[in-house]
This record gives sequence, C-alpha cells and structure tokens, in this order.
Amino acid sequence: MPLVCMSSPKGGVGKTTLTANVAHALARAGHRVVVLDLDPQNALRLHFGVALHDTAGFWTASGGDPLSAVRQTTAGPALLPHGSADMHQALQINASLASNPALLADPVRRLLADPELILLADTPPGASQAMAAILPMAALVVVILLADAASTALLPQVESGAFLGQGTLANLVASRARFVLNQVDPASRLSVSAAESVAAHLGSRLLGAVLRDPAMSEALAHQRLLLDFAPDSTAARDIRQIAQALAAALPKAPPPVAEPAPLPRLLDPASWGRP
Ligand SMILES: Nc1ncnc2c1ncn2[C@@H]1O[C@H](COP(=O)(O)OP(=O)(O)OP(=O)(O)O)[C@@H](O)[C@H]1O
Ligand SMILES: [Mg+2]
Repeated sequence: MPLVCMSSPKGGVGKTTLTANVAHALARAGHRVVVLDLDPQNALRLHFGVALHDTAGFWTASGGDPLSAVRQTTAGPALLPHGSADMHQALQINASLASNPALLADPVRRLLADPELILLADTPPGASQAMAAILPMAALVVVILLADAASTALLPQVESGAFLGQGTLANLVASRARFVLNQVDPASRLSVSAAESVAAHLGSRLLGAVLRDPAMSEALAHQRLLLDFAPDSTAARDIRQIAQALAAALPKAPPPVAEPAPLPRLLDPASWGRP
C-alpha cells in the first residue's frame, strides 16, 4: 500500500488536523486507510475520539510488537497512535531511531505489505528522525503550507526537498512532493494573494486548499471529524476534494502477476554462449 507522509517545515499549520480529516474522507470514499502518528504530541488520536487518558500506542505497545497497538476507529480508518511520551522519552525515541531507523521502518514496511491499504503518517514539525526513517518508502510527501508570507518564503526550500534532506534523497523526495494550502482566509487580501501566488507557482502539484473555518477546531473540541461535524461546510468540501486529488495522485498497485514474467532474451541463461 502507498505511504503518504503529511509534513511541513513549520509547526501548527494543520498537519494533524488534515491527516485525520483527509484519512476520514478517504475511508468514506471506500478506501481502507491506516493513520500513523509519529509525533510525540500524540494528538492524532484525539480527532478519532480516543480518551485523553488512553496513552497506548506504537512506542508503548506491550509484547514488543508496535503493530499490536493498531485499533479500528468508529470513523473508519484504523489508527496507530504514537503512544504517550514525556520529553525525556521523546528524546530517547529520537536517539534510538537515529541509531536504528529499522525500529520504525520495519513495522511500517509490514503495514505496507498490504496492497489494498493507504497509510497516512502524521509527522512532527520540521526535521525528525521518525520522518527520516520512513521517507525512502513514501509514495508521496504532502507538504502543508499556510497562505501567508512565511510559508511563501519557505517555498524554495520545500520545493527543492532541502527541508527533508540533501543530495539524491532530497531530489527523489522533491519529485514526490505534493502541497496543500491550509487556513485560506477569503476576507484577508494577504491570505488570498499568498494563496493565489502559491497556486500559480505550484500548478498541478497543489492538491487543494482548505478554508480557515472555526468548525475545524470545534470538531476537534467535540472529538469528531469535520465530515461528520459540519458535512456541508466549505472546509468539508475542501477536505473531500483533497482526498480525491490525493487518491488520484497515488501510484496504483500493480495488477497481480499470475506467472513470473519471462526473462529478457539477453538474460536468458539458455542463450548464453550461442552466437
Ligand atoms: N482549516 C482550518 N481552519 C481553522 N482552524 C484550523 C484549520 N486547520 C487547522 N486548524 C487549527 O489549527 C491548529 C493547529 O492545527 P494542527 O494541530 O493540526 O497543526 P499541526 O501542524 O499538526 O501542529 P504541530 O506542528 O504542533 O504538530 C488547531 O487548533 C486546529 O484546530
Ligand atoms: Mg501535529
């Protein structure tokens, strides 16, 4: 299944909110979706109605298998929370991942073995060991930007992949980057003009834009998702459209191969040594 990393160089732009709501929209459209929280804030679970005192997750899973913490949500997507971590534990997780990225990459690879599922990962703001560990497996990196001057100024850095790494990896990832503009405010000339210039620059790499809508925060306050809480709102329509654009941008699973393809002629050992 394809892995989609929801990311941003800046904090507080709506990564977690959009991960939860886009995953919900994808599930409603008939896709099987898993959401994975890689941020020690452990906030993704709150969008899915998980109680504050419920601290279970990837890094706290008992029995050693982090995938045992995957749970089905009533909203549709399956959820793998980060698990609660205080500052000391979060630093320890970072250090462990720096020396052994497979701690995260291996379980994620196991999830990706199911060709029917879409895995959406919510990441911490900016650079993180967690994102570095799974980036090579990402089919798409969705970069969330705000329609403001700060995000516009970051565009060259984001476009080149520089905020995700250097050299070949950055180039590879940059080609898989897609963008979402969040919190567009039609009442603000600055917001509209920033959104217009980013949209003109990114062209088809921009999956969509989401209106700034208080219903988004209110939905979270009720531990609900926007398509349930305010299904007719403009922001809900934006979320549905972005889910559709994201699904269309994902690589399609290759059709099952009935028989192994024949070796290309030049590699057929039977033909070796013949003129
Ligand atoms: N389109 C929107 N309209 C109104 N409020 C929004 C919108 N998107 C996100 N928000 C609000 O913005 C705040 C930040 O959102 P969120 O926590 O999802 O950002 P984040 O990028 O995950 O933050 P962090 O970098 O800390 O992980 C939240 O209060 C959320 O409700
Ligand atoms: Mg977040």
